[in-house]
Amino acid sequence: MRARENAHAPFSHFRVGAALEDAEGRIYTGCNVENATYGLTMCAERVAVLKAISEGARKFRRVAVVADTETLTPPCGACRQVLWEFCGDVEMVLANLGGKTETLRLGTLFPRAFDTSFL
Ligand code: THU
Repeated sequence: MRARENAHAPFSHFRVGAALEDAEGRIYTGCNVENATYGLTMCAERVAVLKAISEGARKFRRVAVVADTETLTPPCGACRQVLWEFCGDVEMVLANLGGKTETLRLGTLFPRAFDTSFL
């Protein structure tokens, strides 16, 4: 929720926060960062993954995604692919500002993923 407050979303006004917890309990956060070209917008989840990887984290326990929606916001398709690459079938906590949460596995949202096992 705190990460979401830093969202740069002047075009959609849709603010998202994400957090990754690694195997040592360290937290890496992200928010969506939009761009005037629209297409270069980066989602909160991918910002958090890229921050974590660039800081040397490699094993992850949990991912949280927060948005201000009654129906909990799931990660977009691009973020599912990137999360799968680094977090595998990780626990995902979807939440809204009212405290509603749902916990599920990424594999539920992203079945039959393409990954390195095919290469
Ligand atoms: N967005 C995220 O950051 N994460 C999601 O899971 C869904 C969408 C962002 C991208 C864009 O800045 C805004 O939300 C509207 O799509």
